[in-house]
Amino acid sequence: MIDPAVPRPEPSESLETGHGPERAILVALFREGVGEASLDELAALAEAAGALVVGRLVQRRDAPESGTFIGSGKLREAAQAVLALSADLLVVDDELTGSQIRNLEKGVGCRVIDRTMLILDIFARRAVSREGRLQVELAQLKYRLPRLTGLGTVLSRLGGGIGTRGPGETQLETDRRHLRRRIQSIERELRLVAERRDRVREQRRAGRVVSIAVVGYTNAGKSTLVNRLCGSDLLVLDQVFATLDPSVRRLPGDSPTPVVLVDTVGFIRRLPHTLVEAFQSTLEEATQADAILEILDAADPEADAMAETVESVLQSLGAAGKPRFVVLNKTDLLDPAGASGWMASLPRRTGDRVFEVSALTGAGAEALRNALLEWADRTGPVRTYRIPQRQAGLVSWIHRHGREVSVRYEDDAVSVSAALTPEDTRELARLLASAEPDGYNELKSEDFDNQTS
Ligand code: GTP
Repeated sequence: MIDPAVPRPEPSESLETGHGPERAILVALFREGVGEASLDELAALAEAAGALVVGRLVQRRDAPESGTFIGSGKLREAAQAVLALSADLLVVDDELTGSQIRNLEKGVGCRVIDRTMLILDIFARRAVSREGRLQVELAQLKYRLPRLTGLGTVLSRLGGGIGTRGPGETQLETDRRHLRRRIQSIERELRLVAERRDRVREQRRAGRVVSIAVVGYTNAGKSTLVNRLCGSDLLVLDQVFATLDPSVRRLPGDSPTPVVLVDTVGFIRRLPHTLVEAFQSTLEEATQADAILEILDAADPEADAMAETVESVLQSLGAAGKPRFVVLNKTDLLDPAGASGWMASLPRRTGDRVFEVSALTGAGAEALRNALLEWADRTGPVRTYRIPQRQAGLVSWIHRHGREVSVRYEDDAVSVSAALTPEDTRELARLLASAEPDGYNELKSEDFDNQTS
């Protein structure tokens, strides 16, 4: 989320120059799984980074040429195109090695970047919070470290000062040492931020709040939907990756169980590994949530492939098994039959609940909100209960009735974390009290209080 009141950060490396946007030519190898759709997406990414796309070059081959990525004929064609179209930049729809970048730059006579560098550039422009910026810088440094030989000017591009050169050391060794030191210091700082985030999450749990992570392909309409459901005003831009920093919003409603929606970073096909790693703690919101609200852009012809991407990211995070609400968004752009056709073609996971919504017009939003609140009430948040040893039989009762049950044995009690419905929570209180007249202090009225974190 970018708060409109917060001034945009200066990009650490911008594709815009003092003389207007950089003119970019896109280059792709078409092969199994990589085709026109991937190139269209690269064009959208290049535009999001501030470039003007002036041409596209495509070569069909199964594997890249090891030295120059494209074959020598295509390289000559690219050099001519750079001249004819006055291009400043070649953007390659893949990851390149340092020497491929150097060879390509020599061959075409302009700057060359790859898909990952482009995405990192966009992330660098969008990150607002200190954590977001550190995560992006870390990803940039890790990506550039093994490519240093190919990128002579990389450090000055990143804005990092180079330390004094030691006697007998090459510039490259000094640069590497400097980068490694910076990586370590960022990692240290991010660990502290992650610990703080864990504490906040714990407080959310202790506050008996149900949290639902909003996930989806970039530009699917996550922020618009959260705004619609929560009456908040997250920044909404028709741009990829407008949302980088997770934001938490309370879902309004009369339900006794408070529900918060946590917006996450948008997903993308072939999301660079460095970024998944860097944004792990942000993406973990999905792992820690009680349920997933998955937003799909039903009006996009590539919606199927985007749904697959979302699925594979959720799987890699270990969050694919959580209760899921699927939103087919942007139905205002479909004819009424369109959305139903889509629904029929969706690979159904048992238990998923599917909603047709237009976050823009609000159609279907009320039904979705009610379903979320009703589910939260029925399911309840994860809470921790201390069961005295002599009533340890209740642990299996909780296993049978609860969700997300985890058990820790202590000296004189069993500590059980579980999500129980309000009725089951009351029943557990009754069972505990029947054996222990004093009752059970975890299960008093505050269990039904309307608290948020
Ligand atoms: P990232 O932050 O990039 O991950 O995007 P996001 O998923 O949060 O998307 P966002 O809410 O910023 O919306 C992206 C674009 O889609 C904006 O131009 C929205 O106005 C538009 N949009 C969102 N929902 C709808 C909808 O239901 N119908 C139509 N027609 N447009 C929508």
